[in-house]
Amino acid sequence: MSSVSVSQDESFSVDEPLLPVSGGDLTVPLVDGGHTPYVNLDYAASAPCLRAVAARVEALLPYSASVHRGAGYASQVCTALFESAREDVRRFIGGRAGDSVVFTRNTTDAVNLLAHCLDHVDTGRPGQGAGGAVVFDVEHHANLLPWQRRPGFRCVPAAPSMAESLAALAAELRARPAALVAVTGASNVPGEVPPIAEIAELAHRHGARLFVDAAQLAPHRRIDMAADGIDYLAFSGHKLYAPFGAGALVGRPDWLDAAPGYLAGGGAVREVTVAGVDWADGPARHEAGTPNLPGVVALAAACRELSALPADRLRRHEERLRGELVEGLTALEGVRVHRIWTDVQDAVGVVTFSLPGHDPALVSACLAAEHGIGVRAGRFCAHPLLARLGVPEGAVRASIGVGSTAADVRRLVGALADYLRSGPRWTYVRRDGQWVPTPDERRLPGWVENIVGRQRVPVGAGTPCGH
Ligand code: ALA
Repeated sequence: MSSVSVSQDESFSVDEPLLPVSGGDLTVPLVDGGHTPYVNLDYAASAPCLRAVAARVEALLPYSASVHRGAGYASQVCTALFESAREDVRRFIGGRAGDSVVFTRNTTDAVNLLAHCLDHVDTGRPGQGAGGAVVFDVEHHANLLPWQRRPGFRCVPAAPSMAESLAALAAELRARPAALVAVTGASNVPGEVPPIAEIAELAHRHGARLFVDAAQLAPHRRIDMAADGIDYLAFSGHKLYAPFGAGALVGRPDWLDAAPGYLAGGGAVREVTVAGVDWADGPARHEAGTPNLPGVVALAAACRELSALPADRLRRHEERLRGELVEGLTALEGVRVHRIWTDVQDAVGVVTFSLPGHDPALVSACLAAEHGIGVRAGRFCAHPLLARLGVPEGAVRASIGVGSTAADVRRLVGALADYLRSGPRWTYVRRDGQWVPTPDERRLPGWVENIVGRQRVPVGAGTPCGH
């Protein structure tokens, strides 16, 4: 039994999930006709649902009714749950008392919302307009593209060390002030965690605010926006064990209240005439339309569940598993584990690696078809970063979370060792940009086939490297 003492009076085992997740006991078909317990090592793309979150949504469903719009009892229940969710979210990420919590579809939506608001910011610097955003070239496309198409955008190439990267960022901000520095809280590729408080201090010293894309940080670490000086932060429910389609943007209300509504429509207004609109203040201004109540209730439930874990338990669970994963991968001949910065020690449970000479898409197809292991291969919606890492063709990513165990890590390392020794044990052909095992008699579950009809596994999904 692999357990580790974490202090004199506490120990924990990584042989058990930290929290129960739906699908933790899933069995999946293999291409050879067998079945095996599923190993989900793709939490960074979309995490499974916490059982407690699923139970909360189940409890909500009998009351499903309109939020903010109904006098009926069920509507009142929905409105109370929706509004109280803001406080659960704010507490979860250590927001300031006056911070707005705006519900969005996901992180991408939240970044686009903040970028929309930035268009209307007056930085008070004559001739500079809104000022624009500055990023490093290591960002997920969600924290790059919304800024890239706006005036004043600049991208600072990350240096091999964080110290040099921060010096380059400071030089850029000295040369030309910016309204905002936008940085990842944890990279979705190597999982590295930049020194957020230091970057906040640097940004503020140069008159800029700090936005943190916490899509990959929030599921793995305690966050304290107020203590770290984070002005804006976004994250997604689907990576936080609440896959019901809600996310959040949290931060200082002045910029958010200065911009017109992000979506034009009902619920975001104080008054409308045929000629014009008086937008509401506060989160409602950017939440037009009937909101995603199950998504928001699920997100709040996940925030509560993770907040209720003993301090540092989540981090220790993942550090232990990540350590075993990296150790196992580096022991395999030729496997390269990617890193951005030489001097950043902290990393969440997201590990990206290459087997030089082997197509990452073929490796991931083989892991799925022959071993029942789910990983992601491709460029992870971070094309500039993959080019910087020297793998423009893509790589393989394994990512863990509260449902992961040491057995999952061992299964992956064992399967990769087998692959490196013997290559794929099945035949694969390229079809629609994907590696497809052939023959392949795997079927979708019966209830799914009843809906979608008989389909091949993998179902056609275009080229993974386009993402
Ligand atoms: N952004 C998600 C990922 O990195 C989808 O996989």
